[in-house]
Amino acid sequence: MKHILVTGGAGFIGSHTVDLLLAQGYQVRVLDLLQPRVHPHGWPSYLPEQVERIQGDVRDTDAMRRALEGIDGVVHLAAYQDYMPDFSTFFDVNTTSTALLFELIVRDRLPVERIVLASSQSVYGEGHYRCDQHGFFQPDFRSDDQLARGEWEILCPECVQVPASPVLISEDLVKPHTPYGISKYALEMTALNLGRKYGIGVTNMRYSIVQGPRNSFYNAYSGLARIFTLRLLHDQPPIVYEDGQQRRDYVHVLDVARANVLCLEHPQAVDRSFNVAGRKATTVLEAAQLLGAVCEKSSIEPQISGEYRFGDTRHTVSTGAALEQLGWESERDLETIYSDYVEWVRQQPNLSDFYANSQQAMRRAGILRHSAATE
Ligand SMILES: NC(=O)c1ccc[n+]([C@@H]2O[C@H](COP(=O)([O-])OP(=O)(O)OC[C@H]3O[C@@H](n4cnc5c(N)ncnc54)[C@H](O)[C@@H]3O)[C@@H](O)[C@H]2O)c1
Repeated sequence: MKHILVTGGAGFIGSHTVDLLLAQGYQVRVLDLLQPRVHPHGWPSYLPEQVERIQGDVRDTDAMRRALEGIDGVVHLAAYQDYMPDFSTFFDVNTTSTALLFELIVRDRLPVERIVLASSQSVYGEGHYRCDQHGFFQPDFRSDDQLARGEWEILCPECVQVPASPVLISEDLVKPHTPYGISKYALEMTALNLGRKYGIGVTNMRYSIVQGPRNSFYNAYSGLARIFTLRLLHDQPPIVYEDGQQRRDYVHVLDVARANVLCLEHPQAVDRSFNVAGRKATTVLEAAQLLGAVCEKSSIEPQISGEYRFGDTRHTVSTGAALEQLGWESERDLETIYSDYVEWVRQQPNLSDFYANSQQAMRRAGILRHSAATE
């Protein structure tokens, strides 16, 4: 393979993947809509000159056809990701575009050999749990009633009152519950089945929370590091939802780019879905404190607001063991992730508090809610 198309290649994960592909000698074309919320100033300056650029929508047949000309491999990253209740757009952008990709390849007999697609940890919904008495289960999402009472933990459905323990999420069992997560799982199924049927090597990448330089400030989709850092640099405390004990895993964008390129090339990556996981579980409160230290604002204590975002998961931590079998490793720890990110943030001109805008937008949409714990 020589010519690679990266959809969403002007974005955060896309642009780092582009850099790595170029470094490995590939010729790279990017198809990107330049979604105004992510790129208010057009093509980002970090995208190298030698990249061929097409501004267009992955839902647009003509744009996709032009983008696929002479292409051997595709990294399909363009997506709609948000907390807003415009449900149909998730499927429209994430799933339909995937079907269109295969439609054009099959119909026009294009010689595309491999496709790597961005899925997400969100295909696991609330994740995987174990109850001491009743064993393994996959919970439903927490009800609004439960959250409004400030009862954050996942309860075993049999014991009802007893909090269960989260276990590391491996690839075998999914249970998405958000339109975003469902659209991603539908994307996975579309790609795996059409790939198998038409002899195209497909790999779905279930990224955990990806962080690092170039994560757009303008994106209302709440990257935790972005919001916390912006507040800390404005001498405001990071606002932590629920009780701050939610566990997550965070992965450096450079490690994600390596995973994408590895899976584009590796014969054993074909016809599979992989977690792209961080090194360890970290609570949101620990993450906020670590960011405070990295920003040299340790004196500013995170504020636990008792608010919650309806639809957020409690504990979601993936294992990257399957991808490690192919030689990948999450090389960078959370401290490195944050130092790289904060160093980049400090270089950005005209930092203003975008946080307030995204929070207001979520309040308006009824996603950010108060619990009894705040009253
Ligand atoms: N960042 C994370 O933590 C994370 C976690 C899990 C999965 N993902 C997935 O990884 C992929 C890349 O995410 P990212 O964090 O780099 O986001 P991003 O917003 O930085 O990049 C997405 C890019 O896609 C472009 N785009 C959006 N809609 C488009 C459309 N209809 N047609 C063409 N281009 C379009 C945007 O302009 C943007 O450049 C997405 O599929 C996302 O769902 C990201």
